[in-house]
Amino acid sequence: MNRYLLAIETSCDETAAAVISDDYEVRSSVVASQIDLHAEYGGVVPELASRAHVELITPIVNQALGEAGISGRTLSAVAVTSGPGLVGALLVGMATAKSLAFGWGVPIVSVNHLEGHLASVFLANRAVPFPQTALLVSGGHCMLTRATALGTYQLLGETVDDSIGEAYDKIARYLGLGYPGGPILDRLAGAGEDVLNFPRPMIQDGYEFSFSGLKTAVVNYVRKEPVFDVADVAASFVAACMDVLCAKLRRALEEFGDPALAIVGGVAASPILRDRARALADEFGSQLLIPPQSLATDNAAMIGIAGWQKFAAGGGDDPRFGPQPDLRLTFAAPGHVRPV
Ligand code: KG4
Ligand code: ZN
Repeated sequence: MNRYLLAIETSCDETAAAVISDDYEVRSSVVASQIDLHAEYGGVVPELASRAHVELITPIVNQALGEAGISGRTLSAVAVTSGPGLVGALLVGMATAKSLAFGWGVPIVSVNHLEGHLASVFLANRAVPFPQTALLVSGGHCMLTRATALGTYQLLGETVDDSIGEAYDKIARYLGLGYPGGPILDRLAGAGEDVLNFPRPMIQDGYEFSFSGLKTAVVNYVRKEPVFDVADVAASFVAACMDVLCAKLRRALEEFGDPALAIVGGVAASPILRDRARALADEFGSQLLIPPQSLATDNAAMIGIAGWQKFAAGGGDDPRFGPQPDLRLTFAAPGHVRPV
């Protein structure tokens, strides 16, 4: 008989709950986005996010349990994101998860949001090969890792300044296009052309990324040009981002030849990135691991999968864990691997 876990995610501006079976079936996944709330500010306002989580969390959890047809007392565990993220937002999810777990008498599992994104590849494929070259591209992170085994990571490189999602969001805000910038710029890019020759920062340098200079180049161009084609700006910006990401992925695939290429995080919802990654994976004979588009951005289903993996490896956590706004992945030393 299957066992079930309730997962809760509130690290940023999505209030999410999901019920996941121990063989990773998504029985329900409910995501309440606060996009409309933050749109007028062009980015997430932490205080507003926390308040909205407080209002939404109970109905969202009830909806997830109701859609799954599972009662809390029959669950095997509750999993919750404990970081990284906004401290107030994290606290709402954690307080809810701890109270529910205590009331139902079930174990609680704290989950690293980044491990949730990396586990999101299991939402599309249950049989996931290792080692993987794994690109995590979101609003908060831009990181190229290798997952050499489940839960064992080697850092190849990360951004030295902005994350890629942040660059999308800031440029969209500067252009007055709305929030979040990723889907808006992606859509516009389809109507324009890569004709503006924006820089491809650090494209030749190892595995690190930089997006702040590219952002400045776009802003400077728009400031100088009295009339510009916004679709060409979007297409040129997106092309510069994609060229940089793909150059790093190509380098890693050449160096390590991993049998799988994982693309995760909110920017993995980009159809442009999905197409480019598929072409690269095909070229290198690597299996492309990518979550379904709707589960690339923040959700609780991915937290449930990472929760099951952690629970299976080490059981529940001491419920006194606190929020960890700057939580990172634990990396094995470069060049060799140890279990996390
Ligand atoms: O993973 P996520 O939902 O939240 C964080 O963990 O940060 O990622 C959100 C980011 C935002 O910056 C958003 O603009 C970007 O993902 N994003 C996209 C797309 N959908 C969301 N970027 C490019 N293309 C998209 N279709
Ligand atoms: Zn995320």
